[in-house]
Amino acid sequence: MSEDQLKSSASVASAVSPVKPPPSAKPSSGMSRGQFLLAGYGALAAFGAVIAGSVGRFFFPNVIYEPSAIFNAGSVKDFNSGVSLKWINKQVWVVRTSKGLYALIAICRHLGCTPNWFQDQQLFKCPCHGSVYNLQGTIIAGPAPRNLWRPHLEIATTGDLIIDKSIVQDSSPMRDEPPFFLPIS
Ligand code: FES
Repeated sequence: MSEDQLKSSASVASAVSPVKPPPSAKPSSGMSRGQFLLAGYGALAAFGAVIAGSVGRFFFPNVIYEPSAIFNAGSVKDFNSGVSLKWINKQVWVVRTSKGLYALIAICRHLGCTPNWFQDQQLFKCPCHGSVYNLQGTIIAGPAPRNLWRPHLEIATTGDLIIDKSIVQDSSPMRDEPPFFLPIS
């Protein structure tokens, strides 16, 4: 091989050899090892938070806390003859007659509206559809199919009237007997 041929093949070889990167250049991987680990820990922490939240809800389920159906209405002696509106915020009227004491639940037996007490007429009248109840809670007019409920009554050793709205009666003669009627003078 001649000298010219050798030079020519050397120049061809240098023309096809791979280009080396400059010494200062680094390979581009998109994310460093530290960044990768940080992202992994972050994802793990987020997953742990979701699991902890789910487990927490298992121990604290949705519960609706309703007020107790039993309450102390105060001394029996404080209820004079007639209808007391003292506990209407608990949807209860306390009625005292010459024969004794009873209470009525202030919920209309038609669709649950709150009737109003008309002292001059001695009637409870429902403003929604016109049901009318007498002093005993008996339905005398309107669409309501049943009498007003009478709740369970009890007199504590202190002389206080304890009303339990979770136990009720609306039929005669049971509603006119203890514990739905207290024959006190
Ligand atoms: S809810 Fe009282 S009459 Fe209808």
